[in-house]
Amino acid sequence: MVIEPKFRNNIFINSHPTGCAAEVRRQIEYVRSKGRIQGPRKALVVGSSTGYGLASRIVAAFGCGAETIGIAFEKEGSDKRPGTAGWYNTLAFQKEAVAAGLQAFDINADAYATEVKERAVETLKRTPAKVDLLVYSLASPVRTDPATGILHKSVLKPIGGAYSARSVDVMSGEVKDFSVEPATAQEIADTVKVMGAEDWKLWIAALLGAGLLAEGAVAIAYSYIGPAMTHAIYREGTIGRAKEDLERGAREIGGLLSSVGGRAYVSVNKAVVTRSSAVIPVVPLYISLLFKVMKAKGVHEDCIAQIERLFADRLYTGDVPTDAEGRIRIDDLELRPDVQNDVAELWTRVDTANFERLADAEGYRRDFLAVHGFGIPGVDYAADVDP
Ligand SMILES: NC(=O)c1ccc[n+]([C@@H]2O[C@H](COP(=O)([O-])OP(=O)(O)OC[C@H]3O[C@@H](n4cnc5c(N)ncnc54)[C@H](O)[C@@H]3O)[C@@H](O)[C@H]2O)c1
Repeated sequence: MVIEPKFRNNIFINSHPTGCAAEVRRQIEYVRSKGRIQGPRKALVVGSSTGYGLASRIVAAFGCGAETIGIAFEKEGSDKRPGTAGWYNTLAFQKEAVAAGLQAFDINADAYATEVKERAVETLKRTPAKVDLLVYSLASPVRTDPATGILHKSVLKPIGGAYSARSVDVMSGEVKDFSVEPATAQEIADTVKVMGAEDWKLWIAALLGAGLLAEGAVAIAYSYIGPAMTHAIYREGTIGRAKEDLERGAREIGGLLSSVGGRAYVSVNKAVVTRSSAVIPVVPLYISLLFKVMKAKGVHEDCIAQIERLFADRLYTGDVPTDAEGRIRIDDLELRPDVQNDVAELWTRVDTANFERLADAEGYRRDFLAVHGFGIPGVDYAADVDP
């Protein structure tokens, strides 16, 4: 079939297999061009198929030569419709890893489930090396608690009062005001259940219990802080509560890992275009303005550039530099005062009429299409593809 992009309200409902494969190869080439990093030998990546998790797996494998085990939850293609981008990314990663002589195993199932952790343990035992890096990069709207069977749903809402701001439908360029009611106590607790540290700790316990962690193993999860203009909906909202829990969790996990001389970190990453960031109110508008400013200053980075720098300049440098709270900061360029002052100035002026000019609308759209395998240079989109 010939596959054309289909999207609604900043959500894509299809993806392109050839384009996804080309985008995975671009990221691999980027990592190769940066040279070798003395990093992990065997990495488990939970949330490995798209965004920051995929980038982490690519850097571990193609930047460090590591064996990788990926856990993701993606939909396979059928005769009638394409699968999700993460499904094709994983197939493409496998193919490139095999070609490069790198071991790569995958489990496509719910990472929150106990039996999936057990399957991961069995898979990890298939090769003799122990895991020296666990990347936890899940972004999910729901989680079934394995202890109770209860399905928890995360929400993106402010806490304490309603929040009104501007947002953009990036594909149409329409900037409009919106308002979100504050979260209930239950919604806050549910979001922490889904996106907080509880499941990360269960992963660490499963690996430690099976004796699969190497001496000096590193566990890392990803967080976001961002500027004041997004705080009400992000850092001080429900998702921010979950991120605080994740950051507290890193300290607890660090304690657990001391038995193998290991360490746990949260890395605060930059805002980038992924399936998950596209659905957070305000964030696509903020990101489009941020990209305009960061590109003008020559400091823009995408997922793969962020993670390559995280490994090369932070995680595997000897002494890992952290902030006062023990977090790795790779959002340093995003939060530079000159960058944020320029974004804040544009923020006061942006509307539908000037969005294309003030913001990097084109760059955002290009990234958003690329995340789903569309608009990739060199791909023949008129060609028939088998989904
Ligand atoms: N995108 C950003 O701007 C940004 C910035 C800073 C930090 N982060 C953080 O990075 C992490 C990853 O986010 P992303 O933007 O790369 O998201 P993403 O949507 O691109 O990736 C999410 C991954 O989680 C997997 N996943 C979701 N539910 C699953 C389940 N039940 N079982 C197994 N796998 C599952 C998906 O398959 C995918 O591999 C999150 O913690 C996010 O908060 C993102």
